[in-house]
Amino acid sequence: MTSNLFWHRQDVPKKARQLLHGHKSFIIWFTGLSGSGKSTIANRLDRALYRESVSTYLLDGDNIRIGLNKDLSFQQKDREENIRRVGEVARLFVDAGIVVLATFVSPYLKDREFVRNLVKESEFLEVYVKCNLETLKSRDPKGLYKRALKGEIKNFTGISDPYEPPVDPEITVDTNVMSPNACVKQIMKYLYRNGYLPKPK
Ligand code: ADX
Repeated sequence: MTSNLFWHRQDVPKKARQLLHGHKSFIIWFTGLSGSGKSTIANRLDRALYRESVSTYLLDGDNIRIGLNKDLSFQQKDREENIRRVGEVARLFVDAGIVVLATFVSPYLKDREFVRNLVKESEFLEVYVKCNLETLKSRDPKGLYKRALKGEIKNFTGISDPYEPPVDPEITVDTNVMSPNACVKQIMKYLYRNGYLPKPK
């Protein structure tokens, strides 16, 4: 299908765009069960980065499924397609010199590895937002666990569908015991320590 297509090299390279923004560009990929705190943490991190004049964009699972990916279900094949498309979008943002925060349940290891392999090794950071099922069932802000347990939602991750935890994530935050702000602090520290962000003046 792509055999009659030709890649056009763009005159303004990624490096030039990064220079313009004043920092590197990369993907911070949040994975974890629904309700584990991915969106809350990513939003607060987004605010913290904005205050440091970092150019970011947040791709949120629920929001993307309301727009770009509204044709996709939660069957494994469609979850794979969801992550593939979002991975490609995230790659474009990295090319544009922007730091991407992506929050997707992304339950399958191979789908997350696919995104990792779309960019350079240093351009993908996996954040495992860990939270046990008991806590999630008791929090249940969207009432989804209650409905999934009653059998009203099919293929619900953690209840009637699998979740494959990351094997060696760059960062793990445990929201059973950590506040969202503590998680953000840990991630910011990682970004500064590992040269992802320039040292504050
Ligand atoms: S993913 O598995 O394809 O990565 P994604 O992050 O886009 O999932 O969407 C997850 C969100 O959709 C959850 O936060 C939840 O609000 C909603 N949702 C609805 N049905 C399901 C389901 N069967 N499994 C998981 N999340 C679901």
